[in-house]
Order: sequence, then C-alpha cells, then structure tokens
Amino acid sequence: MDAMGCRSARFDLVHDRRMTDTEIPVTCAGSDSFLAVTGKPCRAIIPSPMDGSPIVEDMPAAPMPTASPSAVRAYYLRKNAEILHRYGPGPQVHFHAAVMTGGPPHDGTPAELRRRIVEGQTRYLDRCADIWEAATVFRGRVLDIGCGLGGPAIYWAQRFGVEVTGLTIEPAQAQLAAQLADDAGMAHLVSTTVEDFTVAHPQGKFDTAVSNEAFVHMDRHAAFANASRTLPLGAYLCIEDVLLTKPEGKAPADRYWTIDIGPLAEYIAAAQASGFTLDRNVDVTAEGADYWLWSIAWADSQLAQLESEDALTEATESRLLRSIREHARMYRCITNNVYEFRALRFHKVRDLA
Ligand SMILES: C[S@@+](CC[C@H](N)C(=O)[O-])C[C@H]1O[C@@H](n2cnc3c(N)ncnc32)[C@H](O)[C@@H]1O
Repeated sequence: MDAMGCRSARFDLVHDRRMTDTEIPVTCAGSDSFLAVTGKPCRAIIPSPMDGSPIVEDMPAAPMPTASPSAVRAYYLRKNAEILHRYGPGPQVHFHAAVMTGGPPHDGTPAELRRRIVEGQTRYLDRCADIWEAATVFRGRVLDIGCGLGGPAIYWAQRFGVEVTGLTIEPAQAQLAAQLADDAGMAHLVSTTVEDFTVAHPQGKFDTAVSNEAFVHMDRHAAFANASRTLPLGAYLCIEDVLLTKPEGKAPADRYWTIDIGPLAEYIAAAQASGFTLDRNVDVTAEGADYWLWSIAWADSQLAQLESEDALTEATESRLLRSIREHARMYRCITNNVYEFRALRFHKVRDLA
C-alpha cells in the first residue's frame, strides 16, 4: 500500500511544488489534464512516476472548456453505464461524494469497496439532511434538480415520505432513474422529467427543491432564476455542490467532469438576483475528503481484478487509469484548498421581477 492507500503504484501523483508563471500549478494537474490554464502557452514540470526525475511538457494555449447543455447531455449519455457499474447495482445509485468511516481503504474486492462507498454516500445525504433540517423543510412535492440515476430522489422519498420529481437533462438517465425507483418500490412517490434547467423549469407546483452536485454543470444565474420560477415564496432550495476556491483549479476540473465550477460568491450573487437569501452554509469538504481515496482504491482493485481474469481491455485500462489520476488530483486539490464542498440552504424571500 502506498501513501494514497492503493495497492499498486499505477498512478503518478504529482507532488506539491512552487509554481512560477510559466508552470501549470501541479497541485491540481493530472498528467492528462494538462491545459494552459492561463489561456497562454505554458510549461508543466512534473516528477516522473518511475524515479521522480522532472518531466517537462510544453503545452499550447487551450481555450477554456465550457459545460454547454449539449456537452453535459452527451457526457451523461456516455457516463450512465459507468455510474451504474461503479455505484450500483441500486436501487439507490448515487453520483456524489461520501462520508467514509474506518480509516483508509483496505485491500478489498471491487464489490466490497463499492458497498462501503455506497454506504458512505448515504451517510453524506444523512449529513446534508441534518444541515438542511430536511425533516422540517422537505414537505409536499420536492423537485430534485439534476437527479442523476435517482439515488438521492429515492432516499428523500423513503426517508421523509415526500413526493419527489427527479429532473435531468439526459433522457436515458431519466428512464434509468424511473426504473430504479420502481425497483425500490417507490414509483408511487418518485417520478422523473427531462428538462434543461438552464432553459426551462417543469410545470406543476413544488414546495421545496434540492440538488446534489448538479448546479456545478449549469449557468448559475439561469438555474437560480428557474428555481425561483418553480418555487413559491417562503420555499427552500437546498444545494450541495463542489465550489472553486483557487482559480487554477478551474480548467482541469471543468474539462474532466464537463462542469463550469465556480466560487460560492457566484452562487450567492445568482441566488440574490432571483429572490433567495442564503440561510445555511456548511463546509463539508473535510468530511467527504477520504471518499476520493476509496474511489481510487475501487478503480485500482477493479484493474487488478480484470487483469487477473485476463479481461482488461486497453480502453478500460486507459479509462480507469485516467480516473485514478483525476481522483488523485481531486484529493490533492481538496487538501490544498483548491476546491470545497458545501451544503447550502436558500430561502425564497422575493419573487423574480
Ligand atoms: C453529478 S450528477 C448528480 C446526480 C445526482 N444529484 C446525485 O447526486 O446522484 C449531475 C446531474 O445534473 C444533471 N444536469 C446537469 N446539467 C443540467 C441541466 N442543465 N438541466 C438539468 N439537469 C442537468 C445531470 O444530468 C446529472 O443528472
């Protein structure tokens, strides 16, 4: 086991080092995530994974990536099967962070590690529910904005007996989520709808809205405005998301996750412009940080298992190695305060003009 808790040294962790204006900030670069984050050509210097000697890579200027709705839709169309494989089999399939317990990941099989991660994801929602005072605030009809495969929607319905509509931009995802809700025996409370929430909001009345790690994909002003159009005065909008705390973290994260990560101030400004005030704001970064180590351990164990079964294709190996590198980068960035995770609660105090 190495320092990151992984069995093998397959992935090349970049080390902290001082940054100059011509070097990419390697605390948040993965070797295949290199972008000229400044929009100018730049040079990355990283230690070789083999012997630590410096590798120099010159990179051309790259345009800042964007998470256009069509790019997000295409991303999830590709990603659905992978999410199901990695966090399934369900019926509650989550695609958000987790609160892990019991120290660093042990040498488990992929199935064991996955089971522990899914338990941790449920603990993460327990924690969000406490922060949001969901037992009081979630009532009547709840809109889950960016519902993924429906794990949180099923959880909210089961735990609080509320009617939840899961909204996603990707049609196949909505179908899968509806099927999983049915498998959970929750079809009477959980339904799904397909909408680009930056463009339109669902018809019908909602009492509360919730969103886990989805606003990060969206134009915040448009999404808060649509949340305001959806909710009555006095309603709550509960958001848990990953936020940017240092600008150098933006380009690599945006590119890998097809997001448009932004700082807390941007959420607050967009919320205020749409008639919301922020009334709960809790930093949950430290509580969820170990999740990334467990996720790396899962991918590492999955690689080892496929290799031992002689079933590892080149494409799968490259995807899993990339995931390991990116999750290692994410862990390093979190511990270097480049990103933070927050549970926020907004209260609608004014209608949109
Ligand atoms: C990281 S996943 C989170 C899924 C789910 N909330 C969970 O925690 O398991 C982000 C979700 O946001 C949805 N999403 C992203 N942009 C969207 C948009 N413009 N309109 C509606 N849904 C969107 C994606 O389709 C996906 O379901």
